[in-house]
Amino acid sequence: MQAMVSPRPGIHVQEHTIVKPIAPVHQLAQYKELHQYSLENSDEFWRREAHKYLKWFSDFDRVSQGSFIEGDVAWFLNGKLNASVCCIDQHLPHRQDQVAILWEGDEPGHCRSITYKELYRDVCRLANAMKAMGVRRGDVVMLYLPMVPEVVMAMLACARIGAPHSVVFAGFSAEALRDRINDTNSKWVMTTDEGKRGGKTLPLKQIVDKALKEAPSVQHCFVFERTGAPVDWVPGRDVKMSEVMAQQRPYSPAETMDSEDLLFILYTSGSTGKPKGVAHTTAGYLLFAAMTHKTVFDLQEGDVYACVADCGWITGHSYIVYGPLVNGATTLLFESIPTYPNHCRYWDLIQRHRVTQFYTAPTAIRALMRYGTEDIASFDRSSLRVLGSVGEPINPEAWKWYFEHVGNARCTIVDTWWQTETGGHLASPLPGVTPMKPGSCTLPFYGVELALIDPSTGQELAGNDVEGVLCVKRPWPSMTRTVFGDHARYLTVYMQPYKGYYFTGDGARRDADGYYWITGRVDDVLNTSGHRIGTAEVESALVGHAAVSEAAVVGFPHAVKGEGICCFVTLREGVFESPALEKELKQAVRDAIGAFATPDIVCPTPSLPKTRSGKIMRRVLRKIASGESDSLGDVSTLADPSVVPYLITAIALKV
Ligand code: PRX
Repeated sequence: MQAMVSPRPGIHVQEHTIVKPIAPVHQLAQYKELHQYSLENSDEFWRREAHKYLKWFSDFDRVSQGSFIEGDVAWFLNGKLNASVCCIDQHLPHRQDQVAILWEGDEPGHCRSITYKELYRDVCRLANAMKAMGVRRGDVVMLYLPMVPEVVMAMLACARIGAPHSVVFAGFSAEALRDRINDTNSKWVMTTDEGKRGGKTLPLKQIVDKALKEAPSVQHCFVFERTGAPVDWVPGRDVKMSEVMAQQRPYSPAETMDSEDLLFILYTSGSTGKPKGVAHTTAGYLLFAAMTHKTVFDLQEGDVYACVADCGWITGHSYIVYGPLVNGATTLLFESIPTYPNHCRYWDLIQRHRVTQFYTAPTAIRALMRYGTEDIASFDRSSLRVLGSVGEPINPEAWKWYFEHVGNARCTIVDTWWQTETGGHLASPLPGVTPMKPGSCTLPFYGVELALIDPSTGQELAGNDVEGVLCVKRPWPSMTRTVFGDHARYLTVYMQPYKGYYFTGDGARRDADGYYWITGRVDDVLNTSGHRIGTAEVESALVGHAAVSEAAVVGFPHAVKGEGICCFVTLREGVFESPALEKELKQAVRDAIGAFATPDIVCPTPSLPKTRSGKIMRRVLRKIASGESDSLGDVSTLADPSVVPYLITAIALKV
């Protein structure tokens, strides 16, 4: 493909080989100047932005304090505000009748429009209902909700009364939900009778019931209706939320919160042990979510912005709920999947709602690419201006398909690199400003200073054309402040690997133009279909099965998912491999985590490749699972090298 120049000013694509920026230089230069300014005059920069985006009850008296080394970062000290006021009340004077949430249900055209005024009333009613049932400021509320408007209302109602929420993706299993409830010791869980997704019915209340059998802290389960199906009911514990809400007045005073009060906890996987409760506080998180949302998506009045992620992940938190609503945008909430009722669902959605920004994950793009381009062309996508990508590296082929066939080569692709822990985009092109390169998340956002470190020396790599582990060099407002209930783990995981830096867990390359290219995780975290899954979690699910004595889980390149999950297991004495057992082991992982973590391959083996000191050589397993057995490297240090040819043959038979 040749370098392209589109009709819209500033939309430029570069091939890897084209190193000279071809965008209007003054725009890139302006970005660079402002970026530099944001670093050199950090306090002044962030003070101005904080006043611009957020509605303050009373002003902060210091912009920031603390360091990575101490793990005591705080922003906008002593400022007082409330997130639900920033998201709703501040817009009522001038946009109360504007649609805040545009909900598209599982069936195409099954929609609901909720204006800012209606959202205000429902959030107030729900906040009052929760208070009436005993929820108090500081209580953690677990939200196990599908993609219905109530999930947004619940998040905002929690914020309104000062109760941190912890949304658990409604695809997690009962066991995973139970573990998260027990980690927070929460008294409150909210769910729906059932969920609808891709024409299927999800038995959410039933899953919650199962989880609550082993979650003794829970006093009430608040239940909304999605399908109206009859569900089991525990009198005294279960509460029909529509009934309690109907009794409440549509006004609820917002709690006065400190900038650094906890807004929410969101569990995410790490390389070891159980998932971490990533904790985000109020002001810094909200500001960064709103500012990146506005800048990266070039938000304009009248836009219909659609992020088709789920509110159970950070993308939904920052870029369906908090960022768009602080900005007074119309945000689309999508209950379905890209292939229901057929592969044109996204294009139909864009056409019917005249979507201006569309934000999805590379895995969805790759899945849709398989259906060709003819059908897309028959849908009107002229409303689109910005196309977003998130969750995993986007391969240049998928990037080009998105750019040319979805965006008609006239939209900016914003490849946004960030994490649950970062709260918002740390690197992304800016529409009309940053010349794009397919597969690169380009340059850091304002106020963000990235660094590459040589993992063997621990030294920062200077200059361009370098590759290392990706770190952040200075605190930014929406960085996670702690791991809920385990600050020591926070320090160990993020702050201690490289002193003075925040460690992302990703590897990256900085090219000759200073552009960043994420190469993937450098720890034992898999990224499958944009979902982050710790190999340790999958292994623990496998060894929890009576047939398994040992397990080692690795990723391998997968055409649609990005990374597939391959499990090597040794079986207990007297247990023999069979297709039925493999199915059972896959089910064990689904039960422990959720269907999205289902292994692609389960490979029983007489033993695992280990060093003489007993350490599993994952490097070798990764190569075998990836079909790269011709480049295994040195295997002479293995205790039993004969297992290697066995595994190579076993995997070849599986794929
Ligand atoms: O490896 C990076 C990958 O997803 C990880 C973060 O996952 P999670 O916390 O679940 O958040 C996903 C949504 C932000 C990162 O460490 N990742 C995310 N975005 C990109 C990416 N890798 C490459 N390019 C991206 N744009």
